[in-house]
Amino acid sequence: MKVDLTGPLYSSLENATEEYKQAKAGGDIGQAKKKALECSRIMKVLAEKIPSQKDAYLKKAEKWERLADNVKNTILERKNVPIGSGRESRKIGSGTGNKRGGEHGSSEEDEVEAGDEFISYAESLIAKSNVRWDDIGGLEEAKLLMKETIAIAGLQKPESIKPWKGIMLFGPPGTGKTLLAAAAAGSLDATFFDIKADKVLSKYFGESSKLVSALYSAARKHSPSIVFIDEFDAISLSREGDISESSRRLLSTLLSELDGLQDKKSDRLLLTLAATNTPWDLDPAVLSRFPRWIKVSLPDKTACKEIIKIHIKDLDASKLDLDKLASACVEKCYSGRDLQNLCQQAVWNMIQQENKDLDSLADLPYAELSKRKLNVTPLKHEYFEAAFEKIRSPLTKEQLDKYEKWDKEFGG
Ligand SMILES: Nc1ncnc2c1ncn2[C@@H]1O[C@H](COP(=O)(O)OP(=O)(O)O)[C@@H](O)[C@H]1O
Ligand SMILES: [Mg+2]
Repeated sequence: MKVDLTGPLYSSLENATEEYKQAKAGGDIGQAKKKALECSRIMKVLAEKIPSQKDAYLKKAEKWERLADNVKNTILERKNVPIGSGRESRKIGSGTGNKRGGEHGSSEEDEVEAGDEFISYAESLIAKSNVRWDDIGGLEEAKLLMKETIAIAGLQKPESIKPWKGIMLFGPPGTGKTLLAAAAAGSLDATFFDIKADKVLSKYFGESSKLVSALYSAARKHSPSIVFIDEFDAISLSREGDISESSRRLLSTLLSELDGLQDKKSDRLLLTLAATNTPWDLDPAVLSRFPRWIKVSLPDKTACKEIIKIHIKDLDASKLDLDKLASACVEKCYSGRDLQNLCQQAVWNMIQQENKDLDSLADLPYAELSKRKLNVTPLKHEYFEAAFEKIRSPLTKEQLDKYEKWDKEFGG
């Protein structure tokens, strides 16, 4: 497997940028210069690692070199600003209104510092997905709609035909929403931006709408792209209509990306998928403007059977009555995640039953151990019966009714 080193590079870049800023604010010329050169070096490595962005990174490397050369002037200049006119302001040119010489230098600085931070973070959210549609049991309607959307987006077509640009997946936890997004990205081999809404909000509180813009510009650059925003409710908790100003800005940037106003090149595939376990927490603006909604429900009997088969796929299931098992799972309100846990527990029960000597085997040298085989037998009902005792669905009938009711009123 190829190891992706760009994630660590982005975080070293972030650290070096921060250290540069601190050194500059503290008037430490030597350290500031050193850090600017380090940023330049990282940019050059990134240029090599990401051929599609080579020119952009090389340009930034040059800018950092220029900043390194000018750092002495920049710092001395700051020290000469008369007392009382914002001398101690940390960010040059950040709205304190002080006119200084060397305007060119400072705007370049702002650009290279601020732009990079958001773009770097956006690009660090790129994940790799190996999930395929076949790894998902049931959810036929959701899979079909997503496949159709992707196909329409990719095909040549008249201009007035536009695929959905955003799909909101909602339903109880553990039902496969994240899995669906990963399968869409994995089967397309698309660039997959995997975002946890609350993490982004807490990291960039107040500036998260800038991150959203950077995110979509990175997604356009790396298309075909899937932007997946998990726990979407964290962005738009409606709490009696009272959401914070920064969430509101973030939301409106995001929704205008979805409206496609900023995306002139409609031939590029850029699909936004979002997921929430608590659709009733969403802001009304999201309800009316998110293009497509898909309810992701608990698996029915057929789906339970499929999901069980997926999770025991290379084991012998010929002695199992899968219909009976699946009915019991429906009865217990199991989600896909519960089914996965059930299968894991049942397989574990089989392993313990058939391999009584595991603890003494663990004393063997590894070379010896790796020559031996684990005893594996066909799965039996008793293993599942014992597993049923351990796996409890966290969902109550009342909670499930809440999803139904919400779907009737707002979904679709
Ligand atoms: N429909 C499904 N088919 C196969 N496995 C599933 C399904 N739904 C859930 N799972 C299993 O449960 C895990 C958690 O599912 P996830 O997609 O994270 O749920 P959600 O995002 O809806 O909370 C998955 O990694 C997968 O192993
Ligand atoms: Mg999830």
